[in-house]
Amino acid sequence: MSSRFDIIHKDAAGRIGRLATSHGVVETPTVMPVINPNLQTIKPSEMKDFGAEILITNSYIIFRKDELREKALKDGLHALLDYDGPIMTDSGSFQLSVYGEVEVTNEMIIDFQKKIGTDIGVPLDIPTPPDVHFRRAEEELETTIDRLKAARELVKEEDGMLLAGPVQGSTYPELRERCARTLSEVGFDVYPFGAVVPLMESYRYADLVDVIASSKKGLDPTAPVHLFGAGHPMMFALAVALGCDLFDSAAYALYAKDRRYITSRGTYHVDDLKYLPCSCPVCMNHTAEELKKAHNCTELLARHNLYVTFEEVREVKQAIWEGNLLELVEQRCRSHPRMLEALKQMYTYSPRIEELDPASKSTFFYCGPESSKRPEVLRFAKQLDRFTITGSTLIRSTPVKSEKEYDNVLIFKPPFGAYPQELAEIYPLNAEVVRTPDYESLEQAYLNTIRLVELNPEAEFTFVMQERFAHSLVEKLEEMDNFTVVYPKSE
Ligand code: GUN
Ligand code: ZN
Repeated sequence: MSSRFDIIHKDAAGRIGRLATSHGVVETPTVMPVINPNLQTIKPSEMKDFGAEILITNSYIIFRKDELREKALKDGLHALLDYDGPIMTDSGSFQLSVYGEVEVTNEMIIDFQKKIGTDIGVPLDIPTPPDVHFRRAEEELETTIDRLKAARELVKEEDGMLLAGPVQGSTYPELRERCARTLSEVGFDVYPFGAVVPLMESYRYADLVDVIASSKKGLDPTAPVHLFGAGHPMMFALAVALGCDLFDSAAYALYAKDRRYITSRGTYHVDDLKYLPCSCPVCMNHTAEELKKAHNCTELLARHNLYVTFEEVREVKQAIWEGNLLELVEQRCRSHPRMLEALKQMYTYSPRIEELDPASKSTFFYCGPESSKRPEVLRFAKQLDRFTITGSTLIRSTPVKSEKEYDNVLIFKPPFGAYPQELAEIYPLNAEVVRTPDYESLEQAYLNTIRLVELNPEAEFTFVMQERFAHSLVEKLEEMDNFTVVYPKSE
């Protein structure tokens, strides 16, 4: 099958891609605003002005209401919404997870989505919630996979509808991975990761990282991924860095209904706002007081929420383009302690991210202890055996007078450790780091240095120690036969 998803730029496990649909090409990563077919405060045709390239709505809601169903069957989904760009439709699975039952079968809803001219259709998967018993998760997953296979048989290339294959498996990494692998073999056009809304609602971002990473593990890395129900801009950078391409946001409208004002750092209740920290048309044309009192406050908030959502999409894309997505992720993850947990969890997957991460990009910026676990640092550690060092070897950070007396000079720079000075300008060793390294950064640097010394028993190392490099691992280095630590007199 020909690929409908082209990747044009990469950073970490994130990418800028192009997904071809019957109503045009969508550049990812992007967010699909959720359109409620029953009530539209912001018209679908207006969504392009905010930056939307594709919308998502619910085929089950359309199906259930005679008036909507008939119009959709007669004139098509695009006429119903008065929108000529790509539209994805969900299947009623979410209603299934909320109400426990729906009035359609998988076959009926797939057939309906085809008939109304959806660009991306979704089968009736079962969104198994987090933390259920393994047996339930496994049983529901079997049903989901059977339905997805049945849907795959019903949708042909000439239907012009891409078919999504939602990955389920609750909070069991092995089920997520197994599901993703099975769906890959069947072959879908988009892979949504399902049933993650409860994790996000309870701020379980670290668990969300595990769900994304384990689901991705079973997929071809070049397959497009949709994170179902993820619409808060605070977590876009993180999810994109893990390899998600599509998001959908009902959040812009739901938050507005609760009088909540979204930012890329979190959410404010509008009544707590003294100032409006945003430059979108809504925020430039109203004071905080005016916004609170406006008769159309909900609509204004929904508009602001959409503006900041797409602002963050562009920020993330620009970061991928420049190669500093991980710097953006590290910033965003400092907005909330639970996001910081997610960042730490993400870096436990650095070995896998490293395999996808481009070898060279814009200057590595050290942003805090977590940066010591970045895939680039890991790659450097993995490649230490490429250096062959013999003879007298100086390891220093700043130039010293006696340099010429040595056969080799290595630069010591946490979190990397020691490397030949010829490589100083090469990515990632040209990193911008802090002059006063933290514990984690020194730990990584010394572990790498110990390894380098072990790998080169023919060399005699002299390390120029400085006060700011103090760490318990220095003792370990001092115990090594071919390693000497000198303490320059501080003047
Ligand atoms: N919307 C939010 N989560 C899900 C999910 O797991 N499956 C489907 N089909 N829709 C969703
Ligand atoms: Zn605004």
